[in-house]
Amino acid sequence: MHSRKLNSLIKIILIFTVSSNILFCVTSLYYISNCNGIVTKDNEEHTKTAGWNEGEATWNNVNYRNGGILSEWKLGNLSAKLSSYHDRDHVKTVCSELPSNPGGRMNISRLVQPEDVFNSSSLKLVRPGGHYVPGCLERETVAIIVPYRDRERHLQTLLYHLHTFLQRQQHQYAVFVVEMAYPTQFNRGILANIGFLTAKEILNFTCYIIHDVDLLPVDDRNHYKCSNNPRHLSVSSSKYGYKLPYGHYNGGIIAFTPGQFLKINGFSNAYFGWGKEDDDLHKRILNAGYKIDRPDPTIGVYEEIARQDVQDFSNPDNPMKDSLYLRAEKRFRRDGVNNVLFKRLALEFLPLYTWVYVNTSELTVMKMMKHIDPGLEETFARVKPL
Ligand code: UDP
Ligand code: BGC
Repeated sequence: MHSRKLNSLIKIILIFTVSSNILFCVTSLYYISNCNGIVTKDNEEHTKTAGWNEGEATWNNVNYRNGGILSEWKLGNLSAKLSSYHDRDHVKTVCSELPSNPGGRMNISRLVQPEDVFNSSSLKLVRPGGHYVPGCLERETVAIIVPYRDRERHLQTLLYHLHTFLQRQQHQYAVFVVEMAYPTQFNRGILANIGFLTAKEILNFTCYIIHDVDLLPVDDRNHYKCSNNPRHLSVSSSKYGYKLPYGHYNGGIIAFTPGQFLKINGFSNAYFGWGKEDDDLHKRILNAGYKIDRPDPTIGVYEEIARQDVQDFSNPDNPMKDSLYLRAEKRFRRDGVNNVLFKRLALEFLPLYTWVYVNTSELTVMKMMKHIDPGLEETFARVKPL
């Protein structure tokens, strides 16, 4: 009798859980990755045991999407995720603290040609998904997260330099390019949050670096690692005359441990278009009790890749940015990496990076912001349209 009652109770709980989950997933947008889960329980097991096998991938000299210049890895088994794919028990040497070439400035060519890509010995060592594992035991596993749209030439140049640069630092790393689909307005914060969630699900990286596509590190001593506080790396960029544009600037490139990123609740999801998502991030960092660490300005040096005129139209100034920034504190807890609304349209392991293609709805996100902070409605009403 008791066990019959117990069985019915379990059934009711099961039906309730499954149906509420389905309802939750199908209403409007996907909610982080629980519903479209790229790493299911099964896959997670698989990831740990599968590993990359040279035989599974072949270097195919074909055009990569958008008619670009890079080649494409044909994956025999796409479900083989980035993972620590070799049995590395035999690797005993710990990687050195400093890059093998700590001499300082590197020669960089800002315009990378197709033949540079094909001839690069560093790029040949990169595994599908833009993953690299050094021959020594790394001190950090680093996820590079690039919020991205429509800057193909910049991306090719960045990838060429970054792979070469990071391999000298002897980290295990992978590059994630998180691309926003049209017609939604570009949103750097949402893309950074999605990149963090996706990368973290694929491999438990120790350091997550949000990286603008147009900045090239030029000094080998600029170590891509995390520290006790969020670490802002692009200190001296040619974009701003090789100095910080203002004291609390933390745009460009910034590194977080997973604990730091979660504690500040990542970026705000509310900034569609250009401006202030990085200033909002700064408030979050201070609010969580951190300060910002930076490399020496003679080391955290970056060259900006020249812009193509057309690109400026793709990311217009956000007229709401000042209102959002003024009231940022009201949203910290509920607007961030714990509450990202998005739909993942693709996840592919391309030769030089993992491509995460996503969309979101500005209308739905902003509705949520007004729900979190009803005072926003009135502030927005005072904003003059552009
Ligand atoms: N971005 C992009 N496509 C866009 C707008 C921005 O890929 O249409 C990404 C890219 O990584 C870029 C970053 O967002 O480096 C910051 O944008 P932008 O360079 O326009 O802003 P700025 O750094 O000049 O303030
Ligand atoms: C914007 C930031 C931007 C900075 C430097 C500020 O006015 O709010 O988003 O990174 O200028 O361009």
